[in-house]
Amino acid sequence: MADKQQNGISEAVASLLQRMRGGDVRSLARAISLVENAMPESAALLAACEAYAGSALRIGVTGPPGAGKSSLVDQLARELRRQGRTVGVLAVDPTSPYTGGALLGDRIRMQGFVGDAGVYIRSMASRGAHGGLARMAASVCRVMEAAGRDVLLIETMGVGQDEIEVVRLAEITLLVLVPGMGDDVQSLKAGVMEVADLFVINKADRGGAELVQAEIIAMQSLSEEAVHSPILQTEAISGKGVPELLAAIESARQHRAARSFPSAVPIQVTHSELRLDHLGIAVRSIAQARVFYEAMGLAVDAIETVEHEQVHTAMLPLGETRLELLEPMTDASTIGRFLAKRGEGLHHIAVHCPDVDQLFAQLQEEGIRFATDSVRVGAGGHRYFFVHPASAGGVLLELVGDAAVTDVPKVSTANSSHVGQR
Ligand code: CO
Repeated sequence: MADKQQNGISEAVASLLQRMRGGDVRSLARAISLVENAMPESAALLAACEAYAGSALRIGVTGPPGAGKSSLVDQLARELRRQGRTVGVLAVDPTSPYTGGALLGDRIRMQGFVGDAGVYIRSMASRGAHGGLARMAASVCRVMEAAGRDVLLIETMGVGQDEIEVVRLAEITLLVLVPGMGDDVQSLKAGVMEVADLFVINKADRGGAELVQAEIIAMQSLSEEAVHSPILQTEAISGKGVPELLAAIESARQHRAARSFPSAVPIQVTHSELRLDHLGIAVRSIAQARVFYEAMGLAVDAIETVEHEQVHTAMLPLGETRLELLEPMTDASTIGRFLAKRGEGLHHIAVHCPDVDQLFAQLQEEGIRFATDSVRVGAGGHRYFFVHPASAGGVLLELVGDAAVTDVPKVSTANSSHVGQR
């Protein structure tokens, strides 16, 4: 039996999301499996999860093998639980080819949190494709976040390139080192040093912590960016220093709040291929609105009617971009409803891209939420689609390509109609 569709989300996905948000750990596990196995529902599920993006504090924990990262993550989880916060742990191991092995690790580690649904631990092994690991980790984080986890701990096995990509998903990243590394600190790749918001000297009771600290400071002084990330000491077995570490994470987070952070893997589009195409402004009457714009020196170069959107549009070239005045043909049209709800004003921003279909497919794979269900053909025969404001920082974003001369649809050039005439 086919699922009924509600706002493009099937009942099965909506129900899974609801149970997951209610704290049901089995549903969370099932949702992650759907995503990991790229099941047909996964795109809709990820799109639905998008509404909760950014709600969790994401802490990355990386460092060379043997630094005691797992113990530290467990202690952090314990301390967060003491504070009454729920935790999702994502342990990423790109060296392990089989998820089965990783799951065994889960079971061993879970024992410390038996009966506590407030800690959910998930391991992820290599997905094969290069760069696929970070993308998959991003999706799993998104699901955990939608499930209402307050804090996500993203732990990597080592400090390989894939693992660095994974911890870039975090808001704050800890680089965990241990005494006895000494000069080895210098052997860490610069990329690893740069990713660290906080240095943690774990197993500090071993002695030699001061040496590691001196090495880190020496490395930092060589760095061109004068960012001197704080250095903390912990004993992960006893939990000593962990509350102080969490406090340092919180202050680092506040410190960083001013800086913007990508919450997802960067989308693989060359930036130079994208440019601002136009700004769409919803108006009640093009004829009235154009008076001002023409008074300030702009000129309308085309007035068109897009039947399937029930809208008249007027384009006014402005430097390298354009203003698009949008007048609804009916109150029930998209622009008509926008005017009723918000009044006149900026309706959307349009970005030109060379291959609209390719970008649509790519964003769909990323789980981006759309406002149009497919690529459409609009004014002037341009192919376009809309990204939902929930995925674009609150702005309705139009992606528009070049005119496909061969398939100009029900669009009429209407310079002679009543629309837009003064
Ligand atoms: Co537009």
